[in-house]
Amino acid sequence: MQTFFLSLILLCLTIPLQSRTLPFHQSHFTKRSFHQNDRNVASPQEYFEVTKPLPFDGAHATCTLPILTHNFSNTYGLPPFSVPYFPPLNCIWTHVTLEIQASCQGEQHDRIAALWLGGAELIRTSTAEPTADGIFWTVRKDVTRYSSLLSQNNLTLSVMLENIVNEVFTGVYQVNVTFLYYDANAKNVKPLLALPSENYWPSSRKLKSVYNPLEPLVDSEKGSFDLLYEKPADLIIPISEVGDEGYWFRIQNESDIHSRGVRIPQNTYRAVVEIYVSFHGDDEFWYSNPPDSYLKVANDDEAQHVNPSDSYANMNKVTMGRGHGAYREVLVMIDGNLVGSVVPFPVIFTGGINPLFWEPVVSIGAFDLPSYDAELTPYLGLLLDGKVHSFSLRVADGISFWLVDANLHLWLDAGSEEVLAGIAFSSPEFSLERELKFAGLDGKFQIEAERETKICGWVSSTAGNFTTSVSQKLKFKNSIKFYNNGTRKLVKQKVKDKIEVRIESGTGHRILHTKTKRTYPLKITTETLPGGNNTYSMIARVKNSVKEKKTVGGAKSTLQNSQKSSGWMSVKDHEVLSGGASTEQNYSYEDGLECYSRVVEAENGTLLKDAARILCATSS
Ligand SMILES: *[C@@H]1O[C@H](CO)[C@@H](O)[C@H](O)[C@H]1NC(C)=O
Ligand SMILES: *[C@@H]1O[C@H](CO)[C@@H](O)[C@H](O)[C@H]1NC(C)=O
Ligand SMILES: *[C@@H]1O[C@H](CO)[C@@H](O)[C@H](O)[C@H]1NC(C)=O
Ligand SMILES: *[C@@H]1O[C@H](CO)[C@@H](O)[C@H](O)[C@H]1NC(C)=O
Ligand SMILES: *[C@@H]1O[C@H](CO)[C@@H](O)[C@H](O)[C@H]1NC(C)=O
Ligand SMILES: *[C@@H]1O[C@H](CO)[C@@H](O)[C@H](O)[C@H]1NC(C)=O
Ligand SMILES: *[C@@H]1O[C@H](CO)[C@@H](O)[C@H](O)[C@H]1NC(C)=O
Ligand SMILES: *[C@@H]1O[C@H](CO)[C@@H](O)[C@H](O)[C@H]1NC(C)=O
Ligand SMILES: *[C@@H]1O[C@H](CO)[C@@H](O)[C@H](O)[C@H]1NC(C)=O
Repeated sequence: MQTFFLSLILLCLTIPLQSRTLPFHQSHFTKRSFHQNDRNVASPQEYFEVTKPLPFDGAHATCTLPILTHNFSNTYGLPPFSVPYFPPLNCIWTHVTLEIQASCQGEQHDRIAALWLGGAELIRTSTAEPTADGIFWTVRKDVTRYSSLLSQNNLTLSVMLENIVNEVFTGVYQVNVTFLYYDANAKNVKPLLALPSENYWPSSRKLKSVYNPLEPLVDSEKGSFDLLYEKPADLIIPISEVGDEGYWFRIQNESDIHSRGVRIPQNTYRAVVEIYVSFHGDDEFWYSNPPDSYLKVANDDEAQHVNPSDSYANMNKVTMGRGHGAYREVLVMIDGNLVGSVVPFPVIFTGGINPLFWEPVVSIGAFDLPSYDAELTPYLGLLLDGKVHSFSLRVADGISFWLVDANLHLWLDAGSEEVLAGIAFSSPEFSLERELKFAGLDGKFQIEAERETKICGWVSSTAGNFTTSVSQKLKFKNSIKFYNNGTRKLVKQKVKDKIEVRIESGTGHRILHTKTKRTYPLKITTETLPGGNNTYSMIARVKNSVKEKKTVGGAKSTLQNSQKSSGWMSVKDHEVLSGGASTEQNYSYEDGLECYSRVVEAENGTLLKDAARILCATSS
């Protein structure tokens, strides 16, 4: 991800360097020269991220609200672009889809972007790198869970997309934002797939009905999955920045903690914190960062040799800050106590590793970065005292820089002004081991971390006294190897996260049991060879996947999304001169009722295959 800060470094780099033997570090590039010289496509090309259709895709929207149209040209250092939001008048809706259309032509870096409503983030996205002939894309997201905001008048809707346009980087990002409102109860509306939103919670069989912990809602006998529409929170409180530089916190290092004081309504019976995160600068490829001690050796080795304007050496020099090992974890704290954590999915932006991999299919999550939920209901015992509590975000082991914020989703008891709550017990455990072995520029670095948390608390509302237990087990494994004097690099990472939520009544009757298991395996190999004429070439292979299994009562869903890319490129000064690349992706989603699968293959920027199937559609 290119940001202005970094591009300044790139453009102004004059430190002389040698190119004898250098460790390779993951980096990002633009395709300028490559497309200028080698491409001749006439019309703009459509880019996309492979995902499943949204529940209301293809259905008739009861209302459509085009809310924002803007050209993001020289927006660096400016506040986000904002417009006032009013929900459409006289519109009956139960569900909302956010649609972002974007286009760009010319030369430009990939950029990070986000959209906030009333300071609460609705989507984190990034741009695709354009070509001389132009590209365009559409991102759609189910934003129903933000209904309590979407139904309010006169909130500020803001989009941040910092871009720089000059003689070299000419691409202006043109963006349209539209909200589409759907009424699930209207006669002619049938959701395409009964797909859950990112975080789902049982509601009753009818979409409009309200979560009531008194009724056991999951129909485990039939294992039916028509229960997945989560009732949106009644109140969303942003844990975000107020400044003119976007609503995200810019986290520069591991001790850079950002906090907001929040007073929780005393009739809150459920709380979830949703975390948005992206990583940039020296931490864009955090999962491939070696320890500082290795970087120091590599730096000293280079310092002995001088060769001005060597692009291969410069590439490495720029990445010399990319250290601090490869373990990162975003932590959420209340009054200084850890209440939630996430090792984020390694989203690779479209300029990352080899930009030719990501056209026209972008990497997993690039257009719709995942957000992460932590169930905070057991902590309500600490929060319902009517006092202001400090919610903080930090990045363990992080280096510059991370963009992080959060939304606090709260469900309120309509029948009472005050509910009672207490924490029953909590048992956090954490271990981290690092192993490092290196001689010269060859070496092997391994990290294993494990976090296990169990927390249990009761909430007594008008619905009754229920105990919520949350257990989370996170396993993190990372290994980085350098061979051939550091010119060959192998990165392997696996993140496993298992979260269980149980809700029981006072009599021990189990009301609800949800299980979510996610794994993110990642493998990257890169090999660099110095070329003539101040160029170098790189051969790379990337495999990145998400596997997710969810169980709500007796109903199950599975998602598998994996992407494999390989190719080479010849590079000068972070510009791709020539190259070839192919990417294949398999996506499949399945629950008791519906299945969706898609297989995509692209080579050298052309789509060779794109086959989608709804295997077991419509049974009810
Ligand atoms: C954005 O730029 C394009 C091309 O110059 C122009 O046609 C369009 O009107 C501009 N849109 C806005 C909202 O300024
Ligand atoms: C944005 O909307 C305008 C007006 O409908 C349209 O002309 C333009 O092509 C759209 N831009 C993008 C990037 O889709
Ligand atoms: C919306 O809010 C702004 C600033 O808070 C205020 O100036 C404006 O009058 C409001 N508009 C309406 C229609 O309420
Ligand atoms: C961490 O970042 C903050 C904010 O930029 C800065 O004030 C602080 O000095 C940094 N601390 C370290 C140890 O670098
Ligand atoms: C690695 O570097 C050493 C000296 O720096 C050199 O002798 C050796 O040939 C290099 N090996 C490879 C595989 O490039
Ligand atoms: C709710 O249930 C818990 C555990 O069963 C109990 O410790 C607590 O006192 C109860 N609270 C109320 C207000 O009844
Ligand atoms: C080196 O680059 C220059 C200009 O970039 C070009 O004119 C020349 O032909 C190149 N030489 C070789 C050997 O590729
Ligand atoms: C996709 O599935 C095919 C057939 O099972 C397999 O050969 C291929 O390796 C898979 N690709 C990815 C990226 O997982
Ligand atoms: C893609 O480009 C590479 C390298 O230039 C070439 O070897 C390969 O044949 C190309 N593939 C297709 C399908 O054009």
